[in-house]
Amino acid sequence: MIEVRAHAKINWSLRITGKRADGYHNLETVFQTISLHDTLIFRESDELSLTCDDPSIPVDESNLVLRAARALGKTAAIELRKRIPAGGGLGGGSSDAAATLRALGGDREDLPEIALSLGSDVPFLLVGGTAYATGRGEVLTPMPPIQASLLLVLPAERVMTKDAFARLKHYSEPLGYDAFVGAAALSGTASAEASGRHNFTNDFEEPVFAMLPQLREYKQRLLDAGATWAGMSGSGSTIAGRFESAAARDRAAAHFADLRVERAETITGV
Ligand code: C5P
Repeated sequence: MIEVRAHAKINWSLRITGKRADGYHNLETVFQTISLHDTLIFRESDELSLTCDDPSIPVDESNLVLRAARALGKTAAIELRKRIPAGGGLGGGSSDAAATLRALGGDREDLPEIALSLGSDVPFLLVGGTAYATGRGEVLTPMPPIQASLLLVLPAERVMTKDAFARLKHYSEPLGYDAFVGAAALSGTASAEASGRHNFTNDFEEPVFAMLPQLREYKQRLLDAGATWAGMSGSGSTIAGRFESAAARDRAAAHFADLRVERAETITGV
């Protein structure tokens, strides 16, 4: 039996830089793994099977866990304990796939390629931590760790990534790795947030907030509750707030009794 964690991710920053010939988009993002995680348990079996404690998650061939195991040509009886909400921009299904590749893939050198065939953020979720990414999200450069206490607002409304891309009105110029490191990123400071002069922004906020205006309100509520930074993760709908300390985050959580929230810390790997 092998038990592995599949951690969620947020995007500190997400810029969509253009459309590609293969139908995907080039992007420039800063990925971050966080403590919120699913758990996968792998038991030896001659057949491939999947069970999940969340009945809303399909356990058929559309599930990325099964697709990851099939891509490796492996069999196992897999149990998925789901805690990362689906459709929230937290990379839950992708992380489950990455965890499956790590658990069943051994030391295969083609894991990053298999990962990309399963989804654009699966290669990052093989390694985790804090990383700058371009291409579809698979051209990865590790970044210095960012230690942060987060409060995640998890709205009931879900966003389909395809819809978010379809509603984008313009593409952004890439800023380059250095713009997201240290002082250049100006992230996590109250003065940077107040002035809006920081690079930790998300191009999907404008089109998704236009569709779901309450998300803009949740972002403002996080800032009003003392967040030094707040932003949407991926194509939404999760809004993440960063706080100066776990205590400040916990005090802020009291203001969100009407919404589903999760506390999380950044982590340095997977
Ligand atoms: O790669 P993944 O399957 O996670 O992407 C989901 C959808 O998001 C794709 O079908 C595509 O429409 C869009 N996408 C994109 N460019 C990316 C990543 C995702 O256009 N870099």
